[in-house]
Amino acid sequence: MEVKKLGVLGCGQMGAGIVQVFAAAGYEVVACDTIPAMIEKGIKGIEKRLSGRVEKGKMTQDELKAVIARIKPSNKLEDLADCDIVEEAIPEDLELKKRTFAQLDTICKPETIFGTNTSGLSVTDMAVATKRGDKLLGMHFHNPAPVMQLLELVRTIMTSQETIDTVKKWGATLGKTVVVAPDVGGFIVTRLFTPFLLGAVRMLEAGIATRDEIDISMKLAVNHPMGPLEVVDFIGLDTELSIAESLYEETKDPKYAPPLLLRKMVTAGWLGRKTGKGFYDYK
Ligand SMILES: NC(=O)c1ccc[n+]([C@@H]2O[C@H](COP(=O)([O-])OP(=O)(O)OC[C@H]3O[C@@H](n4cnc5c(N)ncnc54)[C@H](O)[C@@H]3O)[C@@H](O)[C@H]2O)c1
Repeated sequence: MEVKKLGVLGCGQMGAGIVQVFAAAGYEVVACDTIPAMIEKGIKGIEKRLSGRVEKGKMTQDELKAVIARIKPSNKLEDLADCDIVEEAIPEDLELKKRTFAQLDTICKPETIFGTNTSGLSVTDMAVATKRGDKLLGMHFHNPAPVMQLLELVRTIMTSQETIDTVKKWGATLGKTVVVAPDVGGFIVTRLFTPFLLGAVRMLEAGIATRDEIDISMKLAVNHPMGPLEVVDFIGLDTELSIAESLYEETKDPKYAPPLLLRKMVTAGWLGRKTGKGFYDYK
């Protein structure tokens, strides 16, 4: 199948970045979210990031305008009907994703390939919510999507070789390096990275080190661009909690058990950068 038209469902932190990746690669893209203000915010963010590239002489103003013109905002799933690939980037909630894919299945043309940006939920569970299990896979972009080079595809036992081949070839046109992971909780990246992030929260909770000692140590010792607590704020504490819960439920491995501090902070509404407060204060 020739991939021409794309759709992104959910225009939050990840969805907006993915819309940018698609439009910058020359594809027409429908940016769909139930909250129109999220799409507006997402497109404004894309314009701001691309303006930075124009200022640095990395792209022209005309190229910026052409990227923005390829983005079609929408708050109706029906507008995704004729897309060749639809990438879902709605919250990390399995029941919500299953319901949404079941709806999309009745709306989109039979050839449409469905991708999920889930960080680690069961892709097979989403596939069986549709009648096109062979055409549904994980398409895990990393944060921030326009910057991070990896596209982690997640293949279930139902995903066809044809789907994998099409998406691998198309992924390369986005300028990403593609790896294929199996459908086990957290795939490759989240499975390896989550115990590290949760370990930092536990270290803070136990009073072993302060926030700054933890983050500065990891930045200066391992050359990470952000400390682990900064990363959790960046990801969103609610998303990190959902990831930990689903990994712990699948593996029962204590290294994935959500720390109480993380839970309490989510209950308090301290979700990190997106709410202005997490381990750091952004106000
Ligand atoms: N935040 C990260 O660092 C990160 C990294 C990689 C993958 N992910 C994954 O990407 C997905 C999205 O995460 P995010 O951080 O962008 O979340 P987010 O909360 O920033 O954005 C979610 C968006 O989905 C919209 N939405 C909710 N329900 C919807 C529906 N039924 N239809 C259409 N839109 C709907 C919301 O309005 C919101 O704009 C999650 O599965 C998450 O695990 C997140």
